[in-house]
Amino acid sequence: MSAAKQGFPENFLWGGATAANQLEGGFDADGKGLSTADMIALVPKDQRRSVHAMEMTTERIQQILNGEVEARFPKRDGIDFYHRYKEDIALFAEMGFKVFRMSIHWARIFPNGYDAEPNEAGLQFYDNVFDELLKHGIEPLVTLSHYETPLGLTLKYNGWASREVVDHYARYAETVFKRYKDKVKYWLTFNEINIMLISPYTGGGVLTDQVDNKLQTSYQALHHQFVASAKATKLAHEIIPGSQVGCMLARMETYPFSCNPADVRMAQWENQVNMFFTDVHARGKYPNYMERYFAENNIVIEREPGDDELLLNNTVDFISFSYYMTITRSSNPDDEVGEGNLIGGVRNPHLEASDWGWEIDPIGLRVTLNNFYDRYQKPLFIVENGLGAYDRVEEDGSIHDTYRIDYLRKHIEQMKEAIKDGVELMGYTSWGPIDLVSMSTSEMSKRYGFIYVDLDDEGKGTWNRSKKDSFDWYKRVIASNGEDLA
Ligand code: BG6
Repeated sequence: MSAAKQGFPENFLWGGATAANQLEGGFDADGKGLSTADMIALVPKDQRRSVHAMEMTTERIQQILNGEVEARFPKRDGIDFYHRYKEDIALFAEMGFKVFRMSIHWARIFPNGYDAEPNEAGLQFYDNVFDELLKHGIEPLVTLSHYETPLGLTLKYNGWASREVVDHYARYAETVFKRYKDKVKYWLTFNEINIMLISPYTGGGVLTDQVDNKLQTSYQALHHQFVASAKATKLAHEIIPGSQVGCMLARMETYPFSCNPADVRMAQWENQVNMFFTDVHARGKYPNYMERYFAENNIVIEREPGDDELLLNNTVDFISFSYYMTITRSSNPDDEVGEGNLIGGVRNPHLEASDWGWEIDPIGLRVTLNNFYDRYQKPLFIVENGLGAYDRVEEDGSIHDTYRIDYLRKHIEQMKEAIKDGVELMGYTSWGPIDLVSMSTSEMSKRYGFIYVDLDDEGKGTWNRSKKDSFDWYKRVIASNGEDLA
């Protein structure tokens, strides 16, 4: 008898994924403090493909705090989920969501990050949201830190560059685990932990003008996050019986541009440095290939006694990741450079790109899933995937987003193939089931949702919600457990 899997398991967790700072708004409501995300202005159109837009300096923070910067800060408003969560959750329930990924805005709980007591109004807000989800039979999947470090920690300690932040994070984690232990079973410790290497401000609230060596500081800050992640995993397991804790990586599978061994080696290294983060979380120790890299780049990680044991004894229960693109590397400097993919590389002539230049690669998702599973043999969870695109509203209000359906269908087909390959996949939460503020550019016009939000880049609109064509499509996908993709 064949033991081969045929399709999605019965308990597969279908749903959507969001982050507090891109969704909630209410940035100063009910005692919330400022976070790093609240300081990010709308990125002008001509810079929207630049990751440097995610950098921040001490001077600019001061200017913003002094009210000297004329700009919009769209993440302060989000899409007003803070006041409309009931309506939004009812729409998720109508689509049949089994799970909803969201983050807790840390500064809602500890306004400065280092406060002695948590903010009760913030805790109550998430109680209300979780109750609403559970009322509809939707399981919350909660990220503790999604690019929203309390600004107080940046101003006082330069964010995750300082070891002190580990204990503040652990206290925050313990507070929310104790509070929500009967409501939340699935937790993620850090969103896309590897983004620290692209933008230390986004990933760790670190202002690089305050440090001498950006690379050294980034890896030290990452060590602090690894330790914090292990502490949180330990606490969750102690406080919430049956809880499952995952790490979260922005996975960018890298291909060699040609069979030239120099290209193959470049791609291999890129894959190693990307999976370094999941290696630490899943295997509980730094891999040998990074020790060589650290030595050759004069990077010295300061570790405290006990760190190694903590990492080793508190590995994650599952691996989660975002998947938007693959990267192609060439050793030939004359090959055409790709302009849109987040970390560069050359253009892959076999792939098309989104309106924002991200190369679309459904088969790459099957490759990614197989590689992850071969490496760790731990359950996997795709917690972000989707197409950021411009949508057109017809005169009758309808939105025919066939391009989005097409994108998602092709990725889900490849997930099914990977399951047949034997990969253990727990669930799939597509990014931004409801339109929300873009992380990289703070635009509203980069839309991912099944649900349209009438709000533009300038903050104008009714804020009303309406269903796109993809809404009914995804509802059918979930109802058929991934069988009806037409
Ligand atoms: C991921 C982030 O990198 O990509 C999300 O975890 C983000 O926060 C998503 O929104 C899509 O990126 P963007 O820039 O299109 O919003």
